[in-house]
Amino acid sequence: MCGIVGYIGDKKVSEVIIEGLRRLEYRGYDSAGIAVVDRDGTLSMQRSAGKLTRLCEKLEKNPIDHGTYGLGHTRWATHGRPTEENAHPHTDNDGKIVVIHNGIIENYLELKKEMESKGHLFKTDTDTEVAAHLIGKNFDGSLIDAVRISIPMLRGHYAFLVIAVNDPDKIVAVRNGPPIVIGLGEDENFVASDIPAILPYTRKMVFLNDGEIAEVTRKNLNIYDFNGEKIEPDVQTINWDPIQVEKGGYKHFMLKEIFEQPRAVRDTLYGRIAPEEGDVYISEINLDEEQVRKINRIIIDACGTSWHAGLVGKFYLEQLTGLPVEVDYGSELRYRDPIVNENTLGLIITQSGETADTISAMRILKEKGARLVSICNVAGSMASRQSHGVVYTHAGPEIGVASTKAFTSQLIALLLIAVHIGRRNGFLKKEEAMNILEDMMKLPHHMEIGLEHLPGKLEDIAKELSNKRDFLYLGRGLCYPIALEGALKLKEISYIHAEGYPAGEMKHGPIALIDENMPVVALAPGDKVYEKMLSNIEEVKARDGIVLALVDTNDTNLIGKADYIIELPIVPDLMKPILYTVPLQLLAYYIAVKLGADVDQPRNLAKSVTVE
Ligand code: G6P
Repeated sequence: MCGIVGYIGDKKVSEVIIEGLRRLEYRGYDSAGIAVVDRDGTLSMQRSAGKLTRLCEKLEKNPIDHGTYGLGHTRWATHGRPTEENAHPHTDNDGKIVVIHNGIIENYLELKKEMESKGHLFKTDTDTEVAAHLIGKNFDGSLIDAVRISIPMLRGHYAFLVIAVNDPDKIVAVRNGPPIVIGLGEDENFVASDIPAILPYTRKMVFLNDGEIAEVTRKNLNIYDFNGEKIEPDVQTINWDPIQVEKGGYKHFMLKEIFEQPRAVRDTLYGRIAPEEGDVYISEINLDEEQVRKINRIIIDACGTSWHAGLVGKFYLEQLTGLPVEVDYGSELRYRDPIVNENTLGLIITQSGETADTISAMRILKEKGARLVSICNVAGSMASRQSHGVVYTHAGPEIGVASTKAFTSQLIALLLIAVHIGRRNGFLKKEEAMNILEDMMKLPHHMEIGLEHLPGKLEDIAKELSNKRDFLYLGRGLCYPIALEGALKLKEISYIHAEGYPAGEMKHGPIALIDENMPVVALAPGDKVYEKMLSNIEEVKARDGIVLALVDTNDTNLIGKADYIIELPIVPDLMKPILYTVPLQLLAYYIAVKLGADVDQPRNLAKSVTVE
């Protein structure tokens, strides 16, 4: 959370920074700011509360046209309200050191008091201003030295960029938790929290590791560890297409990303499966036959939508590998004392690869001896680098804050991993694996069929239901996590209260809420728990609830019972959760649009949560 951008080069600095912030706005959007230094050392700054457009309006009135390097920030508030005063950048006591920051400096109050006692005047409630003052206090002509001296005094989880008017033409970047990526250009360089800010200019990127400081000038990049030891940059070429970070004619990124799902699923599958052999080949998973045979337990660590993917993964893995699987929230796992040893496989699911709770929990699993495999969408991210193996989802950049294509791609990755392990530990027979892989290959086509006829129907239903204030989502078996995910999508983007429940649990509580104002979204595909779902739908109708049923094509059992019926192509059971996710995403989307909500940037949320 919080987007940070830095640029040094010949392009118009303020334009590159604002454009970068626009592409990072999904990381935070409650205030924004920019600082640019001119050739003669003049520092220009503009900040504004609210979204980036407010800052742009200010810049139209008072443009920052000159400058050779600078920084920009879009904020997700932690310390201090989202006011203009608290918006980044922040400066030191003399206004000569400028800092933008993502994360939390935990001991900022202590440092603030100490510096106040020595005459420092603070203007904001932020922890960031304290870092600026500290670096200013330690500055003696060299910015990188001042930063290096200051770091041991800072406690917390942070990434920041700093510039100094009196040590010009460089940007110093520090990573101690949240991500920093450096884009390498010709006579120009870029720094940002995430790839999309840089992608239009270069694909050559360096991901800073935790505990590293980078000194970026227009021609050079020098990286050091916190002790001052020089580190050789590991330059990677990113294969994402810059077009993917544009809306491409869609009204919202979320809608575009929903429609991209058949492609994302294909890309995550292709090149990895050999259906005729009943096997999958994922070299980077780094789990050979001997390592697989050692595994006697799997722990899944994830947050948010990725946690829902983990719940589906539990079904896949137990069914196809015969191994016991636990699914835990990163924020819980990290504070428990989980039973883990060298025979445990830790499966880390994270779109961004940067979620603070997920990362902390994975470190605990690693310390206790687990082998780690992460399912991740961002090459070079923290999770991918700290795992023994990785299975990348090839969803491409996901910009909408509510996750869609990353989720369905994670489900594909989980199925691939389940087949990989199941075939190697002898639990999954070749014929069964062959069938599953054939079914997976057909899935994108079924998703395409769904996407052809679903949007219009769901838009109509959304119009009728958007005035309801509470929704219940019910599913059983493999579709129970999808009910949770459907409810999460709705609350995230429309601010309507929604609960997902395993349908069998309805009678233990939620049934008390059902009346003629309560829409119940029931996932009732023709699987082995279908009849149980029908009974649950009867129970809802007996209490006058409004039923929207999702069923297989040509299912006539609910005609006259459900108020709305959405039919989906018939696919084998293991594929159903992936297919049944799509209409729930569309329902949430159209309800949010009807309510006039900001679909891509819902209030209070951020795409990548790098604080606890
Ligand atoms: C945030 C996002 C969610 C996401 C969760 C976990 O809350 O808004 O969409 O599911 O973080 O993110 P990760 O990148 O670890 O999958």
